[in-house]
Amino acid sequence: MPRRPLIAGNWKMNGLGPGGAGLDGLALAEALVALVERGPAPACDLVIAPPATLIMRVAARLSETAIAVCGQDCHAEASGAHTGEVSAEMLKEAGCRYVIVGHSERRADHGESDAAVRAKAAAAHRAGLVAIVCVGESEAERLAGQAEEVVGRQLVGSLPEGAAAASTVVAYEPVWAIGSGRVPSAGDIAAMHGFIRRHLAGRAAGADAMRILYGGSVKAQNARTILATADVDGALVGGASLKAGEFWAIAQSCPRGI
Ligand code: PGA
Repeated sequence: MPRRPLIAGNWKMNGLGPGGAGLDGLALAEALVALVERGPAPACDLVIAPPATLIMRVAARLSETAIAVCGQDCHAEASGAHTGEVSAEMLKEAGCRYVIVGHSERRADHGESDAAVRAKAAAAHRAGLVAIVCVGESEAERLAGQAEEVVGRQLVGSLPEGAAAASTVVAYEPVWAIGSGRVPSAGDIAAMHGFIRRHLAGRAAGADAMRILYGGSVKAQNARTILATADVDGALVGGASLKAGEFWAIAQSCPRGI
């Protein structure tokens, strides 16, 4: 079954603006728009996940473009007494079409369980957002030969009932590859993506058509190999998504003819 690749850029907590110490998120969005307008159109869907403070302005700028906007997290409830939280419905209203849930930084920093991630993904579906559900083993788990067991457990626990290709994307991100410059071998990526594909095929009808992204130190120079790997339907990109040219080069590395 052909699956159109998806390249998603996760800006994390970056994009302070011209007056801030860091990178200017609005300028980054503008640079991406310029590249998209110049073409050639990449053979993938393009998504960026700015920090919450920039979503409305970035979404307004991207509204007439082929780049969709994504939240980095959401609360499981639509509204209520949850100080500091943002709901899936709020992200939708702000202009998002996607939301990342269960990123390993949230699982680690905020103790998010699979059940919490599943509730967030269900909230995304309720709000009409596509949920990008992240899974991935730690280095210790991989060294202990438990990578598939861990990822299998996360999939069972994190994917809500009724998750389908149109509403859900799985992102396989080995924790030890995120921000480290280390990437699993193409064989290891293919093996894990094959495992996830078989797991999805065993779920509800249509789940086997879900896109499975690879994430963890994807750069312009390794993207072509990773994106050509069996059952890899795109990438979730952190650091390299903060440079418009490099993110664009990754998008242009998607195999054509899919
Ligand atoms: P990285 O991050 O590309 O900087 O490794 C990936 C991610 O955390 O999604």
